[in-house]
Amino acid sequence: MTTNRRITLAQTPTDKLAASDFADDEIATPELEDGQFLLDVKYVSVDPTIRGWVAYDTYLPKIAEGEVIRAGGAGEVIESRNTQYPVGTRVTGMTGWQSLAVSDGGFIIPDGVDYTDALSVFGATGLTAYVGMLNIGKPAEGETVVVSGAAGAVGSLAGQIAKIKGATVIGLAGSPEKCAWVTEELGFDQCLNYREGHIARQLHQACPKGIDVYFDNVGGETLNAVLGQIRDKARIVMCGSISNYDGKELQPGPANIVNVVPRRALLQGFIVLDHFDQAREASQALSGWMMAGQLKSRVDVTQGLENAPTVLLGLFTGANIGKALVAV
Ligand SMILES: NC(=O)c1ccc[n+]([C@@H]2O[C@H](COP(=O)([O-])OP(=O)(O)OC[C@H]3O[C@@H](n4cnc5c(N)ncnc54)[C@H](OP(=O)(O)O)[C@@H]3O)[C@@H](O)[C@H]2O)c1
Repeated sequence: MTTNRRITLAQTPTDKLAASDFADDEIATPELEDGQFLLDVKYVSVDPTIRGWVAYDTYLPKIAEGEVIRAGGAGEVIESRNTQYPVGTRVTGMTGWQSLAVSDGGFIIPDGVDYTDALSVFGATGLTAYVGMLNIGKPAEGETVVVSGAAGAVGSLAGQIAKIKGATVIGLAGSPEKCAWVTEELGFDQCLNYREGHIARQLHQACPKGIDVYFDNVGGETLNAVLGQIRDKARIVMCGSISNYDGKELQPGPANIVNVVPRRALLQGFIVLDHFDQAREASQALSGWMMAGQLKSRVDVTQGLENAPTVLLGLFTGANIGKALVAV
């Protein structure tokens, strides 16, 4: 019998999320059944969407009180009753925030790919940036693309993909340090610190011809400012709305939505889970761009499973640069 350390939902948040909404415990792992394997989880993912999962039904059912926090993770098979996943296989999947996970499937991590890349650029994060930017945003040479959350996991990759496609790319991020990384390291044309000054005015100066593509990770006031400055046939990639996630009151809808009709713009939401059929294509493209020196990926790793709730809270204050992961 092996002991599993877990982070569970202690209570359903009704207002701002707090560390006290989580609990940790230790339980024995069950005996494996035929078809199952036991994963020694090395890293777990920390994603804004978990904020929704702990509070209500979204595109997945709410996490019940007492249940382990649902999350992606990566680890090594240490016991197996599944011939496709022998001991020693490295796997990513929905492990949850726990040190040992019983599973019957997952993605096998190819040799040469480390756990952190498997959970970021070659995982759901990279796929989200890839399908959001290319299936919906479709940036063309010379167009102006704006990406919010530009120093975050998805946004940092989405903006680089638009650069690769020949667009002029303007990032939005919450600190001078983040903006410096986005322009100097990632090669965005500009990065605006949305916490400094009037966002609509900053955008107007940075995008004098208007905005062709907006990759929206944040919603709220920024979405409204962009909608006021879109060009004809603009594409708005509705990837996320983090400014609306943590709290009980939703902000009022963006008044500039009226601009969508005269500008013949497209607003489209998507969920990465619907696009796993493009996972291989995305990984091949992303790794090719990385090998060619056109794309960089950054992970922000915190040590200790017990710190996962704090890392989640930090996503709402901008504590991370790149993909937030916890080393178990
Ligand atoms: N549609 C899908 O399938 C899918 C899949 C994955 C992720 N997403 C969405 O994509 C977005 C980014 O996710 P991620 O995993 O890449 O997280 P992330 O960008 O790495 O982390 C969140 C970042 O959001 C910014 N932020 C927090 N509160 C904000 C606010 N009120 N206004 C503006 N910015 C704020 C912070 O950066 P600053 O310091 O710059 O504020 C923070 O670092 C989220 O909305 C997420 O829900 C969607």
